[in-house]
Amino acid sequence: MKIRKVGVLGGGLMGSGIAEVCARAGYDTVVREVSEALAAKGKGRIESSLGKAVERGKLPAADRDSALARISTTTRLEDLAGCDLVVEAVVEDLALKKETFGELDRICGEAAIFCSNTSSLTITELSAATKRPDRFAGLHFFNPVPVMKLVEVVRTIATSEETVETVFEFAKSLGKEPIRAHDNSGFVVNRLLVPYLLDAVRALEEGVGSREDIDRGMELGCGHPMGPLKLLDFVGLDTTYSIAEIMFSEYREKRFAPPPLLKRMVLAGRYGRKSGRGFYEYGS
Ligand code: CAA
Ligand code: NAD
Repeated sequence: MKIRKVGVLGGGLMGSGIAEVCARAGYDTVVREVSEALAAKGKGRIESSLGKAVERGKLPAADRDSALARISTTTRLEDLAGCDLVVEAVVEDLALKKETFGELDRICGEAAIFCSNTSSLTITELSAATKRPDRFAGLHFFNPVPVMKLVEVVRTIATSEETVETVFEFAKSLGKEPIRAHDNSGFVVNRLLVPYLLDAVRALEEGVGSREDIDRGMELGCGHPMGPLKLLDFVGLDTTYSIAEIMFSEYREKRFAPPPLLKRMVLAGRYGRKSGRGFYEYGS
């Protein structure tokens, strides 16, 4: 199936990155947010990321302009009616995602493919909210989307081979290196990464080391580009808390349980970089 127009649900951290890479790859891209202000914020994030890519010599200025011209924003779900493929990147909340997909199913053409960028929910459960489980797959990007090469392509027992092939080729057309993953909560990467991140919070809580030393330990000792507490601030503590809750209820294993400190930080509005404060403080 030929993909020409892509819809992106959510213009937050991930949705704006996904829209950027789609537009850079030549797809007409429409981003749906819940308010004009959030749609403008998402577009601003894309402009700034494309601007940085130009500054670093990664992208010609003319390509930035044509990518931006391919992106439109909307608050109306109906404006995704003509999309061939939709990637959902709204907040990690099962009820919200199911409701949004259920509505979209009535709006989009029969052949359109639906994908979710969920970190921890199962694709099977999300696809059950639609009448197109055969044209429904997981397409899990990594943050920051324009930089990280990996995408996980997830098929359920109901996803057709044709859909998997189309989504896999679509990921490649974005310049990504896709891997296939089964539909288990957390797929491949988060199944391994999330317990590690949660353990770093427990280590801080238990006084194993300071935040700086825990991060420096993993950066210098294991060659990670960011220590775990910096990475948590980068991903978003609110998002990580939701992911941990979902994975814990799925597996009932302690390693997925959200540590009390993480919960308190979310309750206090310390979401990480996005709110200006998490384990570290950030200028606005
Ligand atoms: N477009 C294109 N290229 C860009 C870019 C953009 N918008 N922004 C940066 N780049 C490029 C830079 O040019 C640079 O490339 P070169 O090395 O070829 O020069 C490269 O990306 C790195 O950029 P920076 O030098 O600015 O930044 P850095 O070296 O400090 O790295 C980072 C920043 C890539 C974020 C790095 O710290 C990193 O990899 N951190 C870990 C990120 C990670 O683990 N992400 C996964 C999170 S988990 C997840 O996403 C799943 C989930 O479900 C929660
Ligand atoms: P975010 O909070 O930055 O953005 C989510 C956006 O969705 C918000 O701007 C919100 O206004 C919008 N939204 C809420 N309901 C909507 C609706 N019905 N229609 C359109 N937009 C709606 O969150 P994020 O970090 O971008 O995460 C989005 C999804 O991507 C989650 O499922 C998350 O698990 C997943 N994910 C996150 C990361 C990460 O590192 N943050 C990495 C991979 C996957």
